[in-house]
Amino acid sequence: MTAHSYNFDTCPDRTGYGSLKWDKYKGRDILPLWVADMDFETAPEIVEGLQKRLDHGIFGYTIPHEAPIEAVLNYLDRAHNYSAQANWLNFLPGLVPAINLCCHAFTEPGDAVMTATPVYPPFLSAPDYAGRELIKVPLCLNTEDQWTLDIDAMEAAVTPKTKIFVLCSPHNPVGRVLTREELTGIADFCERHDLILISDEIHCDLVFDETKKHTVTATLSEQIAARTVTLMAPSKTYNLPGLACAFSVIEDTKLRLQFQKTIRGIITEVNCFGYAGIEAAYNRGEPWRQQLLTYLRGNYGLLYKFINEELSGITFRPMESTYLAWFDVNALGLDNPIKFFEDNGVGLTDGGPFGGQQHVRLNFGCPRSRLVEGLEKMKAALDNR
Ligand SMILES: Cc1ncc(COP(=O)(O)O)c(C=O)c1O
Repeated sequence: MTAHSYNFDTCPDRTGYGSLKWDKYKGRDILPLWVADMDFETAPEIVEGLQKRLDHGIFGYTIPHEAPIEAVLNYLDRAHNYSAQANWLNFLPGLVPAINLCCHAFTEPGDAVMTATPVYPPFLSAPDYAGRELIKVPLCLNTEDQWTLDIDAMEAAVTPKTKIFVLCSPHNPVGRVLTREELTGIADFCERHDLILISDEIHCDLVFDETKKHTVTATLSEQIAARTVTLMAPSKTYNLPGLACAFSVIEDTKLRLQFQKTIRGIITEVNCFGYAGIEAAYNRGEPWRQQLLTYLRGNYGLLYKFINEELSGITFRPMESTYLAWFDVNALGLDNPIKFFEDNGVGLTDGGPFGGQQHVRLNFGCPRSRLVEGLEKMKAALDNR
């Protein structure tokens, strides 16, 4: 029997569905290659799972139940060698609220939260929203010219008031899959300074470099597991962010109770379709995910070649995961890079809110023809300046 072949080459028209990605440029001739939302239909197996749930016809209050719990536990074990327990889980409508709630749950007024920049902007806004101090430590380049965490700079910046380190692994926006050694360095740092580690691993199933493997930080040692809040979701991998389904894994009872106390009455759990989505994605989404990774690898190869051969002035370092490419555009000498590319028909994400001035992020999770169209527009814009 030949394996089913999924279609990543076309995408239905998304207008009229309130798409954040597409409606931003409604009525303007701008190709949206920004927010982390892919222009691919999700796996047909997930659509089937949702359809089955829809066909039931009753959409009552839904609690975490056996099917999604088992799906998550089996997935963690199978995909990440993480043997977790049902009572460690909390289902959540999103990881952004989870990051914000962690700042409330695990710090007091006057405390500080540390993270490494550039990084997904809610990491930077969450401490501020909670009225806590933010300590930003820039990533550095290692001997292989790859972005990594700068432990020495973190040591220099940490204060007695620092209570949390927020980690993005794999990393958005630089696309690194951190090695066990790098993660151990971060874990040791958190232990030395008695920090709680918030490990956002939402991109962990998007490792397209076949030589790299994601390590769940909490699997490094019992010691680090006892101070870690792992945040995950199928939403980036299976293109389900609109279903609002995510979860946390907190092994330590005291931390878990602190977190649960903070979310009580404020955060709803996942809705009935979110549970159905989680279940279908983790139980039956793997063949689709494998083909997605192959497709993304192809898009990345094309993008890397194009940027390095056709677009001088953009620095793009090799990446290993995610569909989000991070470009240093400083050498182009543009006053406002985002506006420049928008004026020339391409919508990218501004690096500023990530802590990366003169950087832009491009989403290559789209049909290849669309990616080529965007790149050609960028080239034409730069050539015709
Ligand atoms: C690192 C990271 N965390 C969280 C999110 C979003 O999480 P959610 O949609 O579950 O709030 C994203 C989205 O791009 C992300 O890149």
